[in-house]
Amino acid sequence: MTAPLRASDLITVNVALGTRAYDIAIGRGLIATLGERIARLRPGCKAAIVTDETVARHHLAAAKAALEGAGIGVSSVKVPAGESSKSFRMLEQVCDGLLAARIERGDLVVALGGGVVGDLGGFAASVVRRGVDYVQVPTSLLAQVDSSVGGKTAINARHGKNLIGAFYQPVLVVADTALLDTLPAREFRAGYAEVVKYGLLGDADFFEWLDVNWRDLFAGGPAREHAIAVSCRAKAAIVARDERETGDRMLLNLGHTFGHAFEAAAGFSDRLLHGEAVGLGMTMAFEFSARRGLISQDDATRVIAHLAATGLPTHVKAVPGGNWPTVDAMMDLISQDKKVQRGQLTFILVRGIGQAFVTRDVDAAEVRAFIAEKLGAR
Ligand code: GLY
Repeated sequence: MTAPLRASDLITVNVALGTRAYDIAIGRGLIATLGERIARLRPGCKAAIVTDETVARHHLAAAKAALEGAGIGVSSVKVPAGESSKSFRMLEQVCDGLLAARIERGDLVVALGGGVVGDLGGFAASVVRRGVDYVQVPTSLLAQVDSSVGGKTAINARHGKNLIGAFYQPVLVVADTALLDTLPAREFRAGYAEVVKYGLLGDADFFEWLDVNWRDLFAGGPAREHAIAVSCRAKAAIVARDERETGDRMLLNLGHTFGHAFEAAAGFSDRLLHGEAVGLGMTMAFEFSARRGLISQDDATRVIAHLAATGLPTHVKAVPGGNWPTVDAMMDLISQDKKVQRGQLTFILVRGIGQAFVTRDVDAAEVRAFIAEKLGAR
């Protein structure tokens, strides 16, 4: 792992997808450059900003000013903050807003917000006029290192989360790391779980570096830009190899199979944020791998100690509220995972720190016993 870059350095990561390749620009204060970047990319375009009410209070004025300063006509569509906005109703509202703003094929949608806005705005862009280009301006750590990169867009359905959507790549991602200064600490920490994930799944050196430097990252020092860049580079490489998740991209789901079941059991609520569920799920993936003799208990313990030091929940019992569903209900949630194929569970396990792999060779009874133990057995 190289030394951290200076805070003033702008980092550009390219997502190499042929004619649909795009850049991720990472750095402090980049929102001020949004207009000039977009004007260079699409001379003469109009832009519609899709955002939520909370992000709008903090950052909409700056984004608008940057676009208008570059001579770009801007309109905006606001949705309520929170997961419930990833709905058919809000999709309709956003599409209506984009059409009312006369956004045409040569124009741009700008998704300004966290994962919810990125998923919803990106999906609306993919269907309005059969597709208009969009730019991601992620405002949460989780969105900067994960959801804004790679073109997964979606809303939720009655049958589950993210079940209606499209792979639709943005034309640019602008990650202004200063926007993270206003994030609540809990949300920042939850996003950090997705940062550690890149070390744990494929880059042991990055994990070692994070173990030393995570405090600087949280404090907003130069480690923050460096960690976001390493994460985006890792994700860009995986997406370039497997855009539509038929192989390697599944590795990005490390911690998500166990984590998602707990997130669903908690009702996708504030009780357990997505990133917290991923942290918890990674703890379980490492413990489960150790139990199968794939890695040493020492390695699993090191990973869990790191996650715990940052304040992430590393045990089901640390999640407030108690009262988890029965083991059978948890198994039902696990078997509804999108990675299930022909009834077979898919797990991302590890052969070491930085050595994740995808496996279908996991017996449901073994998972059941493990979950029962975690829940304190019922
Ligand atoms: N968040 C996982 C992926 O983008 O594939």
